[in-house]
Amino acid sequence: MCGIVGYVGQQKAASIIVEALRRLEYRGYDSAGVAVLQDGGIAFAKKAGRVEVMAKVAAQRHFTGTTGIGHTRWATHGGVTDANAHPHISSDGKFALIHNGVIENYSQIKKFLLTKGYTFLSETDTEVLCNLVAYHYAKEIADNNGHNRLLESVRKALRHVEGTYGIAVLCVDFPGEMVAARKASPLILGVGDGEYLLASDASALISRTRNVVYLKDGELVHVTTANFSIITLDQADVSPVVDRITWSIADAELNGYGTFMEKEIFEQPQALENTMRGRFAEDGSTAQFGGLNLSAAEFRQVDRLAFCACGTAWHACLVAEHLIERFARLPVEVDYASEFRYRNSPLDRRTLFFVMSQSGETIDTLGALREAKRTGYRVLAINNVVGSSIAREADGGIYQHVGPEIGVASTKAFTSQLLLGAMVALYLGRLRDMSFNDGVQYVEALKGVPDLVRQILKGAPHIQAVAKRYAKATDFLFLGRLSLFPIALEGALKLKEISYIHAEGYPAAEIKHGPIALITDKCPSVFLVPKGEIFNKIVSSMQEIKARKGPVIAIATEGSELPPGLADEVIRIPDCHEAVLPIVASIPVQLLSYYIALERGCDVDKPRNLAKSVTVE
Ligand code: AGP
Ligand code: GLU
Repeated sequence: MCGIVGYVGQQKAASIIVEALRRLEYRGYDSAGVAVLQDGGIAFAKKAGRVEVMAKVAAQRHFTGTTGIGHTRWATHGGVTDANAHPHISSDGKFALIHNGVIENYSQIKKFLLTKGYTFLSETDTEVLCNLVAYHYAKEIADNNGHNRLLESVRKALRHVEGTYGIAVLCVDFPGEMVAARKASPLILGVGDGEYLLASDASALISRTRNVVYLKDGELVHVTTANFSIITLDQADVSPVVDRITWSIADAELNGYGTFMEKEIFEQPQALENTMRGRFAEDGSTAQFGGLNLSAAEFRQVDRLAFCACGTAWHACLVAEHLIERFARLPVEVDYASEFRYRNSPLDRRTLFFVMSQSGETIDTLGALREAKRTGYRVLAINNVVGSSIAREADGGIYQHVGPEIGVASTKAFTSQLLLGAMVALYLGRLRDMSFNDGVQYVEALKGVPDLVRQILKGAPHIQAVAKRYAKATDFLFLGRLSLFPIALEGALKLKEISYIHAEGYPAAEIKHGPIALITDKCPSVFLVPKGEIFNKIVSSMQEIKARKGPVIAIATEGSELPPGLADEVIRIPDCHEAVLPIVASIPVQLLSYYIALERGCDVDKPRNLAKSVTVE
């Protein structure tokens, strides 16, 4: 979702900030802005639309200030207009503020501030917070209690605020200073060489420093040109921990690929190897994980699992459900995180709770984690971004280790989640009744998956040719069964996200209960047809579509024989172990959606209306 950037140092802030905002574009946004302190005032530029549009305006204004903030907005309160873009300036002209999140009680605060003479130029909740800081600042001057007045006025304003925020604030009376704070929105302070950077996402600051402090909820950081300090909303001092980012700037760059989505699809063999590295037991029959903070004996006590996630990660949970039930014979419940929070779900005492999230910042998933913890459950997280809110708040977890995923449409993070789901199923299975030999076979299959993925990626030109023939369709169905039903859901989601074609995923046998009414010669159906016991059943569903003149694209196991003339297009996948089938089947589905979107001229890395990590409810 929106991006936050701040700079305090010796260089001209505006160009550094604009560059950092470009690196945050992938998160999804609709407006951008920058503000710097200079000549005793605030100079700013903000525009609806792309960072480039705003950057042109900023360049014309020749900003020279060395302290600044920048923002990409994803509108929640008020339309996508220049006036609603951030930074917001307080009506007394003293403060500039950027904000990610939602101030829930903004209308009461606004009413109060109007009675005090503050005025408003936008419809946003953010401008209200900016003026509330200005109001407390004016009071602070009167009280003159000896604290840093900038920090104190932000702290006091935040004590009256309900909702979520990551904010950064500048004040004309404090050149070379910045205050930032967070509650449920990510914020990282980069400690550079003679400079400090603030960002909602490490990719914005990694080109200048790898030393970072992850701020926690309820913390405020006060940055000056010489140093920084952190306090809580209750004024307790916090000793900062400086972490080092292990991935490099090259991981967040295109490296010759046309788009991040393409790069991330093609780097899956390596990503999957990284996810597995060091995670098999010496006897080669099971998985092992370092950070679960739960002994094998404790795992043995578990008699049910619950998984919560959103979007693509939710699909990965559905696959994990299938594999855990199949191989460990443990019942699993999968919930949308947003639903779980408010559903009052009756979970059993011996339920182990998992959340899955690439970003680790999805607010619904974080909310589900907190709700589960509040009710006394131990929560484990499968998560990619190191140091994310979810990683920190979970009782234990498994990092995906696939490096930064920049494309809004999740690809490598998804297959890595599928892999970890399969590894958890193996681990639990081997604690129960899976034999040593079955375990060894399972492990060998997992180890072989990067090569299977490489093999499918070699067939990308064929998939691109298929995509060209169907790119004009307005509706698609994706159909699969058992562990491939979630892959059908994922295929439909990918296509919707990046090509804006209406698509639905169903268990193949369900089409006759309604969706078949959609079938015409203009609505292609993508069938996932693995070899095995339900092969003939799926072929029957394909016949039903063909009988109604629906085009059929089959993603089928090599060597399996489809009745002649049944499929208009066939994309082959290698024969493989059940545990890795969902990963293998995902690759053609990703490529198909990707090439269709490309053919339609869509901006696949920045699809309309979408954000990479959704940090508002
Ligand atoms: C993926 O293609 C989507 N853009 C989206 O559904 C995403 O998976 C979802 O928002 C969850 O994100 P998370 O994994 O970062 O929690
Ligand atoms: N609620 C604020 C707005 O609508 C911030 C949105 C965001 O997180 O970008 O302007």
